[in-house]
Amino acid sequence: MELSARERLVRVGQPGLKASHAACVLECRNVTAYRGGTLVFNGLDLCIGQGVNTAIVGPNGSGKSTLLKLISRELYPVFSEGSRLLVYGRDRWNVEELRSHLGIVSQDLQEEYIRQAKGRDVMLSGYYSSIDTWPHQRFTMSELELAESLMEQLGIAELADRPFGRMSTGQQRRFLLGRALVHEPEALLLDEPTSGLDLSATIRYIETIRALMRSGTQLILVTHHLHEIPPEISRLVFIDQGRVVADGDKECLLTSGMVSALFGCRVEVVSGNGFYHAVPAGT
Ligand SMILES: Nc1ncnc2c1ncn2[C@@H]1O[C@H](COP(=O)(O)OP(=O)(O)O)[C@@H](O)[C@H]1O
Ligand SMILES: [Mg+2]
Repeated sequence: MELSARERLVRVGQPGLKASHAACVLECRNVTAYRGGTLVFNGLDLCIGQGVNTAIVGPNGSGKSTLLKLISRELYPVFSEGSRLLVYGRDRWNVEELRSHLGIVSQDLQEEYIRQAKGRDVMLSGYYSSIDTWPHQRFTMSELELAESLMEQLGIAELADRPFGRMSTGQQRRFLLGRALVHEPEALLLDEPTSGLDLSATIRYIETIRALMRSGTQLILVTHHLHEIPPEISRLVFIDQGRVVADGDKECLLTSGMVSALFGCRVEVVSGNGFYHAVPAGT
């Protein structure tokens, strides 16, 4: 029987369900979730092990941002017998506690962030997981110092007093990264981190992420841009229509055939300096 491209992917991929609970940043078993009236996940199984730099790759609408919302508890899965969604082995977290394990930079956050908030306040708001800072919030000297030091490291210190709405997309993205980093999280979860950035901002951002990985921060990347997958990412998960369709080593998955099948178009995957790119396949 002839298999469709997507069915073939399932056969080629190796399900990544072997990690034990304690060693998982994320463990989804038979997770079902809706966005509005749309069924996005119908029995999702996925484990992301601690310390493994991982990219979740899929076309538009495949459920990548929804997965982030499930992890950050902006969205809850449908309860059913035998289903579970554990983050660091737990199904209940208070948001503040979770932030010290997992720093999340979502696309929505950038769109929703208060335009008038000053850069420094964007950083400091990370301590309370708030949007902007508020008069009742108090910051210790060491929290203030860490925020200043992170702005220096991220090259945005001179923008500390600029309103968020008057920054470039790349500058905003750096402040939101800084906001996630004030908790010095074990892992960072980024949603299409370089989309909307120009070439130099993209390269600078990737360099920053690579430096964080070198200093021991785990990266979990959610994207459809192959070029933003840093060489340090070793594991890939392909998702499509809310399902894991392939899961394994990056080198095995980032082939012309696999990527063409995932996105439903003929591409050639080229690589250089540990990065990958998809170009239209030749005739
Ligand atoms: N607010 C919403 N209401 C209804 N459906 C939604 C909403 N947001 C997203 N969806 C649908 O959920 C599915 C997954 O979307 P999303 O997680 O944003 O995909 P991705 O990030 O991979 O592009 C898509 O079919 C999308 O149309
Ligand atoms: Mg998305």
